[in-house]
Amino acid sequence: MDTSQFIPSYSQLSPKGGSVRWQAPSNIALVKYWGKTDVQIPMNPSISFTLSTCRTETQLDFAPKSGASAWIKVLLDGEEQEAFIPKIETFFQRIKEYLPFLEAYQFVVKTHNSFPHSSGIASSASGMGALAACLVAMEEQLSGQTMEASARSQKISFLARLGSGSACRSMEGPLVVWGRHPAIAGSSDLYGVPYGHSIAPVFENYRDSILLVDVGEKQVSSTAGHALMHGHPFSEARFAEANKHLTQLSEVLQVGDLDGFIELVELEALQLHAMMLTSSPYFILMKPNTLAIINAVWDYRKQTGSKLCFTLDAGANVHLLYPDTEADEVRRFIQQELAQYCKDGAFIHDRCGIGISTF
Ligand code: DP6
Repeated sequence: MDTSQFIPSYSQLSPKGGSVRWQAPSNIALVKYWGKTDVQIPMNPSISFTLSTCRTETQLDFAPKSGASAWIKVLLDGEEQEAFIPKIETFFQRIKEYLPFLEAYQFVVKTHNSFPHSSGIASSASGMGALAACLVAMEEQLSGQTMEASARSQKISFLARLGSGSACRSMEGPLVVWGRHPAIAGSSDLYGVPYGHSIAPVFENYRDSILLVDVGEKQVSSTAGHALMHGHPFSEARFAEANKHLTQLSEVLQVGDLDGFIELVELEALQLHAMMLTSSPYFILMKPNTLAIINAVWDYRKQTGSKLCFTLDAGANVHLLYPDTEADEVRRFIQQELAQYCKDGAFIHDRCGIGISTF
């Protein structure tokens, strides 16, 4: 795969210190990425809604390396986090070819998540997205060259992917595709691209309320779960399904077919978890309250004709997706019926957004 476009042409940059600040939102996949090859290449294409409220704000301070200080220091809400360093070091190792000045610098990463750290919401997409955006801003500062907006976004996405696959879908919004697919012009395994086709107005400002069923560390990380797709008895069928679902969803998004949307999105969520249930070793990330919520959503839909549906990421939390026009009723339903299934009654109301920005 040709990655030469991301290797800069400059040979040396003037060594100077500085500081940059970028924020990146989280995203929620409608067709799921599950299974990858080296390095961070997805085994099927995926598409996600970019979120807005759930995001990471990062300030990156950099200075030419001096012998005495640590190479990287990470502060989450002002508190030093040594546990984050190995992941960032791996990330920097993977991207140094594309940002050759990295090794000459030392960094302080000051980061803040808009959602509680313990909420169990994956912060790797927004965290890696914000860090990648900071690094490209740093490159621009050092080189004195400003990139054209879409080229910048593509490079940030390309780098973010090397930190965490799903992070590459957080640069723009409201819909981003990652992974080659014939229905999406310009789609690539190397970075996310805006969905590109015009979408029905109902999907422009879709809502996502995240019900926090289980908080804290997951028993099996996404990275370990992806690895189990190698040699998985159903992997080939799953990858074919994901490709087919993306074709179907593309049609659904363009014509505004809400029933088609519900069917595809819920099927994708359950297929993702079916892969976990049938891998070797098998594992279950859903909790009894995840299933209680799913059943309550199905009942609610039957009783009211609502277009509310659910999706899941690699955990027990439930994302509820619904049109903006249903916001009041669905919020009431969540408060009155579903909050009881959430850890300490916690949920977060979010909606589609437009991606990264400075702050
Ligand atoms: C279930 O992007 O967290 O959320 O590339 O190993 O960092 P790594 O995995 P990650 O996997 C996300 C999996 C998912 C589906 C999705 O977001 O498409």
